[in-house]
Amino acid sequence: MTTVPTVRTAPTAPTAPVTPRPDAVGVSHTRIEGIEKVTGAARYASEVPFTELAHGWLVLSTVARGRIRSIGEDAVRAMPGVLTVLHHRAAPRVRDDVVGALGRPDPIVEVFQHDRIPHAGWPVALVVAETSEQAREAAEALVVEYDEEPHDTDFHADKDGVYTPQDAESTKGDLDAELAASAVVLDARYTTPEQHHCAMEPHAVTVRWHDGRLEVHDSNQGSKWLADDLAQLFSLDQSAVHVRSEHVGGAFGSKGLRSHHVAAAMAATELHRPVRVALTRRQVFAITGYRSPTTQRVRLGADEEGRLRAFAHENQSLTSNLREFVESSAAYGRVMYDAVAHHTVNRVVPVDVATPTWMRAPGEAPGSFAVESALDELAERLGMDPIALRARNEPAFGPVSGLPFSSRNLLACFDEGARRFGWAGRDPRPRVRREGRWLLGTGVAASTYQAGAAPSTASVTAEPDGTFTVRITAADVGTGARTALTLIAADALNVAPGQIHVRIADSDFGAAWVAGGSMGTRSWGWAVMSAARELRERLTLTGGEIPEDGLTAHADTGALIAALAQKERHSFGAQFAEAAVDVTTGEVRVRRLLGVFAAGRIINPLTARSQLVGGMTWGLSMALHEEAVRDQASGGHVGADFAGYHFAANADVPAIEADWVDDPDPDDPVGIKGLGEIGIVGTAAAIANAVWHATGVRHRDLPIRPDRVITAEGRRDERHA
Ligand code: MOS
Repeated sequence: MTTVPTVRTAPTAPTAPVTPRPDAVGVSHTRIEGIEKVTGAARYASEVPFTELAHGWLVLSTVARGRIRSIGEDAVRAMPGVLTVLHHRAAPRVRDDVVGALGRPDPIVEVFQHDRIPHAGWPVALVVAETSEQAREAAEALVVEYDEEPHDTDFHADKDGVYTPQDAESTKGDLDAELAASAVVLDARYTTPEQHHCAMEPHAVTVRWHDGRLEVHDSNQGSKWLADDLAQLFSLDQSAVHVRSEHVGGAFGSKGLRSHHVAAAMAATELHRPVRVALTRRQVFAITGYRSPTTQRVRLGADEEGRLRAFAHENQSLTSNLREFVESSAAYGRVMYDAVAHHTVNRVVPVDVATPTWMRAPGEAPGSFAVESALDELAERLGMDPIALRARNEPAFGPVSGLPFSSRNLLACFDEGARRFGWAGRDPRPRVRREGRWLLGTGVAASTYQAGAAPSTASVTAEPDGTFTVRITAADVGTGARTALTLIAADALNVAPGQIHVRIADSDFGAAWVAGGSMGTRSWGWAVMSAARELRERLTLTGGEIPEDGLTAHADTGALIAALAQKERHSFGAQFAEAAVDVTTGEVRVRRLLGVFAAGRIINPLTARSQLVGGMTWGLSMALHEEAVRDQASGGHVGADFAGYHFAANADVPAIEADWVDDPDPDDPVGIKGLGEIGIVGTAAAIANAVWHATGVRHRDLPIRPDRVITAEGRRDERHA
């Protein structure tokens, strides 16, 4: 076949759109990969086909502390189909000093390096066989003997061993003096339980050596992040690891480098075959991270007009004995509320459990439950409307940072929300509305989440056929990022979205921020826009001529982001809830949720609303259902599956409305603030406040289970007897 160099003029003269395109940013688009997903054509990490594929099955410790005495591998090696058994005496060494793009990975990734058991569920072996069934059968037959040691997995307020990590405390003013001088004081403790991400797609990976490179088909939040961590761990060149993560069925903070990646890579290296390791739901609960339980004390002091004189938030979470992870609930008030005296601290206590990790709105989700419940309690004592109390305490600057806000449209969210929810004329008295067996109430809470941007690289290629290819190591964890980036590129190139092909989640595309911190689409969008602009300039210079192999422009936003003005960048929101409570059965039904957000420029209203509604559904679930329970005797979970760990299902979720006010970030060309996480923030408090308004009973411990409602009703009856 002869190739004739094709040099042609771009069909769409790249000129800046005078008005926004009617088919790109700001217009609802279904997901680009939607049909692939709903027809089952999309391949997830455990579905990529390979000949000679071997299957690994992890064996997890059944004791919570001790040492491995013996592993009965001989019997298992003789079982049908078994290819190898990896464990601490039969595994390659890995480095224990990896520092990646997001810091040290959880030491649980250093699998099979020693005989110590730091917590229940610690991976002790990987059994590899010809089929998944054979691997599972053999893994379950593997006899592991332990020398057990006493363990402690208990967590409660003021537990022995609690300490304050570095940079975990902020202090301003004389708290005791301001509390003493306050007309009204609230001092209350709140708790939230251990919660799990529960992504629909359990963690899975398929690994093989191919053309001298470790090729990893994965489900993760950042393929370059993962590739570089893996390369360090195995002392490989960065270029020797290639990670792809085309489709991800949910992540929420749990999908970074984990034990199964490392175990699969070890097995693929030993066997010279592709190896797949897919986790069961119970294994996901055990070894992929979770949100720590919290116990929080909030003290508020206010003058008679509701101005805060004292704001104190002390949070305690747990971590493992392997690594310090802090669920920074007390970060919430550092942005939301100022006071003459202001104290926030995140304390932590290590116990014999797996390390917790980031989970959707880490810190702000539990922190907002405590603070926004406390504000409601304070409003009650002041006889003030809870929205008016928040409006009275709107800070002009970041209460702790002292920085200006890039924009802070919280009150606009409350105004719009109050109008749509019908807040005006609400009777503030609790327990005065009844409908049959239901007591009815309404509640409100504020919401915030950080809105950052992180350096990313991207390339955009003008192809000779008139289309454009965008390459960026973004991750679409279900957010619709691929679609949003397509719209951003279409706008920047002033072409129809159908002419853009966005390729993501391939570590070979270079460094980029991860799908995390609500900063993915903003960080990637900025890089894509920069590359697209550069390409347009180059196309102008070449008169639109495109060589046979295309014309490519690259962008790296590192310098642009470093030059960003110092401001306090956050999204804000107002959450409204209506709850119905049957105090005889303890049942709580959320009837309405409305969230109005100031979350930057909205790229794709369809998927943006999906993210917000998804986050609010998580908040409902957090308020009423979710709670991972540990058996202190074994140190492991009870019912760590979708039968035992309750979360909101369709029948629990009412019509949820999410909307936004105009709030573009003025400081970057895309104007995004990010909205993956803010939806969950404040929702549980709004619901708990609605339950108080319905019943007259404060619920300070989540979830608001039927037995808690009934017990509280009993105590109330005693008081009123
Ligand atoms: Mo998200 S918890 O920032 O992955």
